[in-house]
Amino acid sequence: MSDAHSLPTVPGLAGHRSVLLTEVIALLNPQPGQCVVDCTLGAGGHSAALLERLKPGGRLIGLDVDPEALAIARARLTPLAEAAHVALDIVQANFRRVAAVLQELNAPPPNGILADLGVSSLQFDRPERGFSFRFDQPLDMRMDPTLPRTAADILREASEAELADILFHLGQEYRARAVARAIVARRREEPLTTTGQLEALVRRALRIRGHRRIHPATKTFQALRLAVNHEMDVLATFLSEAPELLAPGGTLAIMTFHSLEDRQVKQRYKALAATGRFQLPVKFVRPGAQELGENPRSRSAKLRGLRRS
Ligand SMILES: C[S@@+](CC[C@H](N)C(=O)[O-])C[C@H]1O[C@@H](n2cnc3c(N)ncnc32)[C@H](O)[C@@H]1O
Repeated sequence: MSDAHSLPTVPGLAGHRSVLLTEVIALLNPQPGQCVVDCTLGAGGHSAALLERLKPGGRLIGLDVDPEALAIARARLTPLAEAAHVALDIVQANFRRVAAVLQELNAPPPNGILADLGVSSLQFDRPERGFSFRFDQPLDMRMDPTLPRTAADILREASEAELADILFHLGQEYRARAVARAIVARRREEPLTTTGQLEALVRRALRIRGHRRIHPATKTFQALRLAVNHEMDVLATFLSEAPELLAPGGTLAIMTFHSLEDRQVKQRYKALAATGRFQLPVKFVRPGAQELGENPRSRSAKLRGLRRS
């Protein structure tokens, strides 16, 4: 790989790999001088490769809600953009506001828009962010630290019925009621504030002993993360606005990591393709055997593209 892909020295960054990197670039197929929006900068891996293809004279606009990710992406991308003579805007914003951000920046209709959904390994592997039960840390789970409610707040404030709804609909936890009941019983005695407490509670509520291939708390943690960050609502807003922003011939590329997201993207793309104003250049793309071997976190990734006629 060229210098364009080199990473600044940040703890935890060495293990970070951009998922479906080659496939994303092939789908978006950016050309010199074009404008591309990366809605989920993360560590800037996809953006570093996009910059290479936009030079000279192109424009790259990158968004993220996480100030830590933005600092890493800025340090990595600024020198690359300067060397490539590509205009770079890095903005702290939720991609549900992408239309407003482009307007504020006076940007042309983009030729490509990318959203690589969910948390990054940088966030997931940082114990203090509270995304993972591999560490016992406060249950935070906010990608955007300015959001008012953490996962611990939801566990404290939501009713039993609300908790069961969250776990069932966002975690696809079919024993959601048992877990919700256990949460409410537990919080009457003491607040439930750490990832370790929640992991142990789910295990007990589901009466699971010993090792399982998929950890029994995975669904509960996914549900809470989606709820804390309003991820399904944000995706719905994004899907209603982003396609219309594209320049003629422009492509929207969305990478999903679980079936709830993927279903939403697939249905919206299908409805837009039926209007005749958009096309589906690929059905979907999944990581190949080599990527799966090198990066187990890519296992549930699905990339879908939508092209404006
Ligand atoms: C999977 S990572 C992206 C990794 C990146 N493509 C790379 O190659 O390094 C997802 C990033 O999107 C950000 N993010 C998630 N939801 C967001 C939203 N609604 N608006 C803006 N950024 C978001 C997260 O903070 C995280 O940094």
